[in-house]
Amino acid sequence: MMRVLHFIVVVLSGLAAAQQQALMDYLERRLLAIEDRISLWHEQTSRYASELREFKQQMVAQLDGLDKNKEALRSELDAVGVRMDRVEREMDYLEAQNGAQPCVDVDDKLVEQQVTVAKERNKAKYSKLTDCSDMISSIKAMKILKRVGGSKGMWTKDMGSSSGKIYIFNGTGEDMLYEFGSVRDFTSSQGTSGGTRIQLPSSWGGMGHVVYNNHLYYVKDGEELRLMKFDLLKGLVADSAVFPAKDQLPVYSLNPETYIDLAADEEGLWAIYATKENEKHVLLAKVDPQTLAIEQMWDTPCPRENAEAAFVVCGTVYVVYNSRLPSRSRIQCVFDVSDMVTNDDAPIVYFPKRYGTHSSLKYSPLEQLLYAWDDGYQILYKLQMKKKLEV
Ligand SMILES: *[C@@H]1O[C@H](CO)[C@@H](O)[C@H](O)[C@H]1NC(C)=O
Repeated sequence: MMRVLHFIVVVLSGLAAAQQQALMDYLERRLLAIEDRISLWHEQTSRYASELREFKQQMVAQLDGLDKNKEALRSELDAVGVRMDRVEREMDYLEAQNGAQPCVDVDDKLVEQQVTVAKERNKAKYSKLTDCSDMISSIKAMKILKRVGGSKGMWTKDMGSSSGKIYIFNGTGEDMLYEFGSVRDFTSSQGTSGGTRIQLPSSWGGMGHVVYNNHLYYVKDGEELRLMKFDLLKGLVADSAVFPAKDQLPVYSLNPETYIDLAADEEGLWAIYATKENEKHVLLAKVDPQTLAIEQMWDTPCPRENAEAAFVVCGTVYVVYNSRLPSRSRIQCVFDVSDMVTNDDAPIVYFPKRYGTHSSLKYSPLEQLLYAWDDGYQILYKLQMKKKLEV
């Protein structure tokens, strides 16, 4: 029994040893296989990682490229914008050259005649009252303040005093105006409700009135062109006089309601007007604000055709042109009573783009601002000045 048992143990242990060995072999093979696979994975992972890295680098490079492209595109767009602007300006210029033909006359004989007439009338030397020698070099800024009233009208400050009072003349033939204490009072009021109503004894005609030292100067509506001087503090007519010119015409072809455009500047009061005698051009007169007498008259080379408004700065009249289909307003003809500025040294000055028309432009010598009425909008333009003799 013991022997049999011993045999079994020996066999079993032999068997066990053999089985163990086989198991060990098997395990080793599996381990090797796993190691192989691990190393394969490892290899693959590191390949993936490096591929991923490469891909990332490529993406970064492409993104950089895209950024650069975007910049290039943007600068191209900018350049296109600049070119568009230039083309537009050139078109404006060409249109201006071909449209209004300012200061150019076709008929030579007519020119000669007019030059002679002009020389006669213009030969008296103008003696300046101030040492003002500014001329406009550009329009620096525009501010749209408000919209009250209809398409045509006029608004102004008292141009001869520092009171700061503002006056609104709605329409081309009314007899009631509004007074405000300041521009701020005007802009902060609802419509014209915050203003003081001032009733005139007669209607005004056109848009050529001026407020100067607490007096309103206006042209009375009617057949005869009568200048009225109205005391705004007392509410009374202070004086009136018939304007001493025969056969008057509307002074600006684009605003035919205005026959006489009164203007204030550093030198005092002016009248811009037109007559049949020199029907193509704008005429200028110096007006005595005390007596309403005309002190001196000039023919200007500035055409009435396509003119919309004008104003005087330092004894130089600036005529503003537009077209029947409203385009860009521009100062395209100047005339200086002291002969220091000619059309050649005055650049064409464009107003900021609005494609509207000005029914009036009033210069404020104390502020160097233009008070403009454009289709019911009250606008201020800030002028950039330079000395008349600077080139
Ligand atoms: C201004 O005049 C227009 C007509 O020209 C009129 O319709 C409008 O009511 C007037 N506005 C004011 C504030 O007087």
